[in-house]
Amino acid sequence: MNADMTSVDRGWMIRRARPADAVQLLNILDVVGAEGKYIANDAASWNVADQRRILEGMVDHAQRILVGDYFGAVVGSLEVVRGGLAKNAHTGTVAMAILPSYRGLGIGTGLLQEAHRWAADVGIEKMCLSVFSSNEGAIRLYRKAGYQLEGIRVGQFRVQGELVDELLMACFLNR
Ligand SMILES: CC(C)(COP(=O)(O)OP(=O)(O)OC[C@H]1O[C@@H](n2cnc3c(N)ncnc32)[C@H](O)[C@@H]1OP(=O)(O)O)[C@@H](O)C(=O)NCCC(=O)NCCS
Repeated sequence: MNADMTSVDRGWMIRRARPADAVQLLNILDVVGAEGKYIANDAASWNVADQRRILEGMVDHAQRILVGDYFGAVVGSLEVVRGGLAKNAHTGTVAMAILPSYRGLGIGTGLLQEAHRWAADVGIEKMCLSVFSSNEGAIRLYRKAGYQLEGIRVGQFRVQGELVDELLMACFLNR
């Protein structure tokens, strides 16, 4: 098996993103952004050329983008960005999204497991993320994956007209 790839017997696999995935990665951000209630961005903030450049130039120990690949289609993505300073290089910040029709299949869990594996390998000790307090499905996923609440920014976002809190969650990998 390719070292970058976690095959599972359910039609999907988790693998590292490639430059050729740029269009599909941006599509995920556009589709999930347009849903309007799960992620902060309304649409992808990169164009295809930028996204491809990011994928080509990614420094191995500093950032990783993983995809959920369903019979060759990129249906989910997860990005980990490592802290860029000596004082926070032991942390990684996670963001993820799955296309609507492919949720509930375990792809989110698979992406997080693979992200944790990579992070531990490169010496990251603490994984961090932020999630809207209204996003119950994502919060459940994160709790199941070992994340705990460590802070709340009250009324930090307005989502579909309502103020919601930003929950800061984190998971220590080797405790
Ligand atoms: C949240 C998200 C990443 C979860 O990915 P997924 O592939 O659907 O999750 P999984 O199939 O691995 O489910 C794992 C667990 O998460 C929880 N979960 C996921 N979606 C859920 C939902 N809609 N309602 C309730 N629980 C949910 C469940 O506990 C589930 O475990 P279970 O099926 O054993 O109960 C995905 O639904 C998604 O992309 N949502 C929109 C974008 C988003 O919210 N991104 C995160 C922003 S912080």
